[in-house]
Amino acid sequence: AQSNVVFEKALEFFLLNLPAHFHPPNVKVGIICGSGLGGIVDTIDVATKVEFPYEKIPGFAVSTDKVEKPHLKLVGHTGKLVFGLLGEHRTPTVCMVGRFHFYEGHNLSQVTLPVRIMKLLGVQNLIGKQPSCLLGIKFRKVVEVTNAAGGLNPVFKVGDIMVINDHISLPGLAGNSPLVGPNLDKFGPRFPPTSDAYTYSLRKLAFRAALATGFPRDSIREGVYTFVSGPSYETRAEARYLRSLGGDAVGMSTAPEVVVARHCGIKVLGLSLVTNAVVTKRGKDAFKEVLREAGEHVEDFEEDTDTIVASHEEVLATSAMRAEQLQSLVRKVVDLLGNE
Ligand code: 6GU
Repeated sequence: AQSNVVFEKALEFFLLNLPAHFHPPNVKVGIICGSGLGGIVDTIDVATKVEFPYEKIPGFAVSTDKVEKPHLKLVGHTGKLVFGLLGEHRTPTVCMVGRFHFYEGHNLSQVTLPVRIMKLLGVQNLIGKQPSCLLGIKFRKVVEVTNAAGGLNPVFKVGDIMVINDHISLPGLAGNSPLVGPNLDKFGPRFPPTSDAYTYSLRKLAFRAALATGFPRDSIREGVYTFVSGPSYETRAEARYLRSLGGDAVGMSTAPEVVVARHCGIKVLGLSLVTNAVVTKRGKDAFKEVLREAGEHVEDFEEDTDTIVASHEEVLATSAMRAEQLQSLVRKVVDLLGNE
């Protein structure tokens, strides 16, 4: 768990370095940009844009993952926090371009620190577990989380977008929850619910945005995101296991950030880009093949033929292919939020 000093130092840094119009409680929306979505910050009004490379922010981890983030377009940087006005209604927004992953060796406090900083920046004067209304002044604090994920649901195609309606955090269930440790009472309760992790009204907004932006109808889905630690992609047996649990997609991020956001009362919209189809069919049966070589008749099974493997190149290629559409979708969601 983090000491209060960490939060105080980071907050102090932002109060010192941010223009007043991004001071609490003005920032309405936080966006965590997964693989390929970082380009959304290019659509922020340049005149209002303020950027902080992670290495300049007190308490932020330094990503070990530089080569993994070609979309950052920032040689020598591992990621950045970008503030600015976004979209039709010039919504004050903060974007994480590049996130921290558990598989990089960061602990989950480090992975989720930016979410708590977002909370402090947006709704600082609401300490504790209060609802989103103070003295009649309405504010909205939403985090949108995007990620690249493997498709487990056989109906999903590469390039589909899945609006996350629930998640399974295997590391979380097994003890790697970001909330393990003394509870940070100023953020939220010891035992927060997560049955409402992915806000229904925001999911509806995402589908409205998809229809409004002309997103191909059969490419927008809804389903369960399964969080695994990685960094290896799943074995076939693991993939079948995750599918049997009810997972529609699998990835190596998002769930810890979402749990921390919900702990402190931030509403969440999660979007997965299906970058590749996870291999769930059984591999070749060696014994059958040997018997066949020996002249025996052995019937073929469907599973004998499949030799595809997941590759990071495919993941990146799909991200690149869909990046702009996903960015328009997220911008549209922010616009619709402004109307709510
Ligand atoms: Cl196939 N697995 C995991 N764990 N994460 C992924 C992925 C697969 N494809 C993109 N991200």
